[in-house]
Amino acid sequence: MNSTTEQIQKNGFTVIKNCINNKILSEIKACINNKLIEKLKDLKKKNKKDLTSNYFELKKYFPQFNIQKIISEEILKKNLIDKLFNQKKLIDNLIYLIGPDLSYHMDFEVAISDKKNKKEEYYFVKKYHQEFWSGMGLESLMLWIPINLKKGMGTLEIIKASHEWGHIPHQNREPLKLRKKFKSTILKIDNGSVALFTALTLHRTIKNDHKEIRIAIPITVRNFNYPNHGNSDLFNFKPMNMSFFTKMRKKLGNPHLSPFRTIPLEEIE
Ligand SMILES: [Fe+2]
Repeated sequence: MNSTTEQIQKNGFTVIKNCINNKILSEIKACINNKLIEKLKDLKKKNKKDLTSNYFELKKYFPQFNIQKIISEEILKKNLIDKLFNQKKLIDNLIYLIGPDLSYHMDFEVAISDKKNKKEEYYFVKKYHQEFWSGMGLESLMLWIPINLKKGMGTLEIIKASHEWGHIPHQNREPLKLRKKFKSTILKIDNGSVALFTALTLHRTIKNDHKEIRIAIPITVRNFNYPNHGNSDLFNFKPMNMSFFTKMRKKLGNPHLSPFRTIPLEEIE
């Protein structure tokens, strides 16, 4: 068993260090900034000098929720998620954990944390929760990929080993019960690394008080051959890695294994 497997089994989360190249992170940031500028231009507003200023300017006219949606769609459209999953160390670790037939959740939503977010804004400053509550299957892995993370921005707070507590009773996006005593830990992660969680690992947002915005991509990955233990069948998943067997099935075209499906008649006796 490798250390990634050991840690996620023991704590319910782990970090794959230095598995994403800086170039891709810069491309994603540039893609976000360009989209913000495009939206500001549509509104006939001047763009500012950097991504954070463009974001705060656009937030005067659009709710944060919409901005997050718009930039998530743009990142997907520009194939930047495919690029992320083309990173060998990341994909090798995912294959080791849940096998080679992998797909990712296409309706992910970029998470922005800015200094103006208020504690009461539950959507942006989330209380302790399990992804399972919103339909993520037990068979899946949740990835938290920092895109713009600097010292002092904070990350996530996680309850160690809470994945072994089972499905925690909840209402209105917060737990109704927790253990009297538990150990929480602050996720230690840098740009270029990726955190992995189970669907049951309790975690919450740490508010970002830095002048720049924190940007992360939370995205679910699952093995499409595993039975769905959540609502995964209701979401859009895109296959991004295939086993030899899946590739062979795809090439054969159908489960009836039609003979000579794509071979010209004159070549068949
Ligand atoms: Fe979450």
